[in-house]
Amino acid sequence: RVPEPCALVVFGVTGDLSRKKLLPAMYDLAHRGLLPPDFVLLGFARRDWGDGDFESLAKKAAKQYARTSWDEEVWARLSGDIKFVPGSFDDDDAFDQLARTLGELQDSHGIKGNAAFYLSIPPALFPTVLKQMERTGMANGGEVAGGWRRVVVEKPFGHDLQSALALNKLVDDVFGASDVFRIDHYLGKETVQNLMALRFANQLFEPVWNANFVDSVQITMAEDVGIGGRAAFYDATGAARDVLQNHLFQLLALTAMEEPVEFTAEAIQVEKLKVLRAITLPHDLASYAVRGQYDQGWQAGERVPAYLAEEGIPQDSTTETYAAVQLGIDTRRWAGVPFYLRTGKRLPRRVTEIAVLFKRAPHLPFSHTDTEELGHNQLVIRVQPDEGVTLKFGSKVPGSMMEVRDVSMDFLYGEAFTESSPEAYERLILDVLIGDSTLFPRNAEVEASWRVIDPLEQFWATHPPQPYRAGEWGPKAADEMLARDGRTWRRP
Ligand code: BG6
Repeated sequence: RVPEPCALVVFGVTGDLSRKKLLPAMYDLAHRGLLPPDFVLLGFARRDWGDGDFESLAKKAAKQYARTSWDEEVWARLSGDIKFVPGSFDDDDAFDQLARTLGELQDSHGIKGNAAFYLSIPPALFPTVLKQMERTGMANGGEVAGGWRRVVVEKPFGHDLQSALALNKLVDDVFGASDVFRIDHYLGKETVQNLMALRFANQLFEPVWNANFVDSVQITMAEDVGIGGRAAFYDATGAARDVLQNHLFQLLALTAMEEPVEFTAEAIQVEKLKVLRAITLPHDLASYAVRGQYDQGWQAGERVPAYLAEEGIPQDSTTETYAAVQLGIDTRRWAGVPFYLRTGKRLPRRVTEIAVLFKRAPHLPFSHTDTEELGHNQLVIRVQPDEGVTLKFGSKVPGSMMEVRDVSMDFLYGEAFTESSPEAYERLILDVLIGDSTLFPRNAEVEASWRVIDPLEQFWATHPPQPYRAGEWGPKAADEMLARDGRTWRRP
């Protein structure tokens, strides 16, 4: 589907996210013919720039990071629709100018009052910008002109429950709840959406997708990179707030939810919310919630510094770069099944997966087989890289004896389909412009997640993170956490 004529206004266009994800995504959408003929990409930032400067930045970003191949003709079409308004966020004149520019574009570019505002800025600036949009009438200027206005908010959605409630209230008051799109880019990933197809389009999995058959679930989001140039943001945030509260909780919700009555935004959000509300923390947090901080180590043959030696990180920082926790879900389907979530920077490799580990076969009649490990079937949804699904099961080893060993059966997206999948941001920006909120968390989901994270953070505030070597799979305590119950982490 191609959106109606509209403008996308990006605040903070010179930032990392904008250059690496948003601007390239706009080029990709143009390349795939998914932008309306009447479209404007409007940048706003504190630079003494004109349209041409922003256009060069966008071109460079698109050339470097876009998914689709470079095509001068596509760029020539898009570049005519790129505008820039300079200004700082507390500058009333600049926002008045922005409002005027949007008004003018209505006539010159036929955008019919339709505009989405992307807040690609630090959360601390959200209130200032939202209030400017309210003051200038930009937030509801669309309706006046017979169109729509939407706002896109980047995570983290608040720092804790209290700040999330305040942010949700502010943004909902200014724009109206149905016009607020909270981006959690993991929901834009193809394999994450495939989780719903896998579960609800097949008869094979759902009958065993419950506490009767499932032993435990492991959700891993591992990164080999460190904190990059984001020291100030990361040190004030930490792994739990950066990705556990949002990406991992969303993966958990999609894994554990009931089948929605229909495939609509409302129906899916209702089911996800039920899971998020049913999450329980372990009573013994000291044993079942681990956080870590990377020490120096080796990665891909190179020596990498400790977190505390990264530029811009205070020597005495206790921010975690690794978090692992055992959660429960208090529902009939999942009672008693541990959900292990872990994430970390500077782990051995970049991999995100959801592994459903089944209970052992109740009886193994094979005498020539080491039955210690056998019989735990696993279904692994590989979110990235190597997007696909793996099923692990026992199979006979060729030969005269009845020896059984675990084997894997793989489905690989890249092999099964010739269609290329859009990058998560490309998919999500298109959804914003179309007005489809299926893949965007609602404020109630965000609040339910903070209700779990807040007590965890309070506990961790008095428990410093444990060191782990860069290039290894996190602190020892994370292994002990599973070993205590006779389990081990997968080594994806
Ligand atoms: C972001 C986090 O939301 O996700 C980053 O803020 C993290 O710290 C990134 O690196 C990972 O995204 P992806 O799509 O590369 O897995």
